[in-house]
Parts: sequence; C-alpha cells; structure tokens
Amino acid sequence: MTHVLTIASLKGGTGKTTSAILLATALVRRGHTVTVIDTDPQGSATEWAQRASDDGNELEFQVTVGNARTIARSMPTTDVVIIDCPPGNPQIIDAAIDAADHVIIPVRPSAIEVDRMWETLDLTDGTNATVLLTSVILSAKATEELRTQLNEERVGVFPGNIPQREAIKNYFGARPKQDLFGYDAVAAALMNEED
Ligand SMILES: Nc1ncnc2c1ncn2[C@@H]1O[C@H](COP(=O)(O)OP(=O)(O)OP(=O)(O)O)[C@@H](O)[C@H]1O
Ligand SMILES: [Mg+2]
Repeated sequence: MTHVLTIASLKGGTGKTTSAILLATALVRRGHTVTVIDTDPQGSATEWAQRASDDGNELEFQVTVGNARTIARSMPTTDVVIIDCPPGNPQIIDAAIDAADHVIIPVRPSAIEVDRMWETLDLTDGTNATVLLTSVILSAKATEELRTQLNEERVGVFPGNIPQREAIKNYFGARPKQDLFGYDAVAAALMNEED
C-alpha cells in the first residue's frame, strides 16, 4: 500500500519544499521507493529536481507535477508519495489533505508562524497530523515553549528539531549530500523503523 504524506502549511517559507525533498531522500536511502508530487504553481520542487539533473547529479526519486484534480484521481504506486503544497491555496491544500494518510506541518518556532500553524491544523480535520519544527535555532526558548503548548493541546510533534543551517539552504537545486540534518530520524519515525 502506498503511504501518502502531505506537507502543508498556510504560511509561506516554512520549509515545506525543503522537507519534501530531504524527507524523500531519507526514505529512498532507507530502501523505500518515493515520488514527490509538486502541487505548487511556483514549482519549487520541480525546479530543484531540474537543476540537480542539469548538473548531472539527479535526485534519487521522481518529482512530478500535480493539482487538486490529479491527486484526487490517481496516485503513483511507489511505497511513499509526498505531496508538496503551495502556501495558502485552500483548494489544493484541502485536496492534498484528503488524499493523505498523514499530514506533516513544518513550522519555524516564531510567533507569526505559530498562529498560522493552528489554522493549518484546523484544516486537517481528523487526518493524522504531526508538526515538524524546522529552521530551529538550538538555543531558542520559543522552541521548548511551543513543544509544551503542542503537548498540552495533544498535537503530535516529531521529537527531533530540524536545525537552521546554511548547508540545508545550499541543498536547493542539488542532490542532498549524506547529512540530512534530522530528516532521517523523521523518516524512521514515519516508517516505524530504527533511527
Ligand atoms: N532548516 C533550514 N535551515 C536553513 N534554511 C532553511 C531550512 N529549511 C528551509 N530553509 C530555507 O528557507 C527558505 C524557505 O524554505 P522552503 O522553500 O522549503 O519553504 P516552503 O514552505 O516550501 O516555501 P513556500 O511556501 O514558498 O513554498 C528556503 O530558502 C530554504 O532554503
Ligand atoms: Mg515550497
């Protein structure tokens, strides 16, 4: 059975596309077949794959283009499908959540993002959803406060933080090197495998 993961947040620039590509890479390196569906009209995931391929170092999985209609009708048959959503396009986000077995909501632990995170969680409406803390500056107290708040509200959150790193930014348009900065642990948790 294909496992469909939707990466969504209403806020722009929270790390959706980066999470889609690094998580897909981690899953492939763990032996799973993966497809990423780019539903963002900005086409960032598609551009990432294209640039990597132009440099002769292509991504380890296919990135295909999709929209609300195509994801409702058919899914690739890889072990895992990761749907990368645009920010704030409710029609596509709703369709991607409907198609999902699990929704991942990347959030940078800052006040503005946290407000939009609750709105995104409201959209998940019963679908299993887990928050992923991204671009985390390790010393930030805000991160631990947010974890406490999520626990109090009984919202799932991945145990590891994805740190803010220049090296992650520099992966855009290239095949990620060996270091996946915490995304491997997320992949393991999703597949119930050992870290
Ligand atoms: N952990 C990180 N450390 C440093 N930079 C990061 C990290 N994660 C993402 N970024 C950078 O932040 C920017 C936004 O990330 P990304 O494109 O993944 O977000 P997005 O949610 O897909 O954005 P959009 O809403 O526009 O689709 C990019 O420049 C990316 O390289
Ligand atoms: Mg994006």
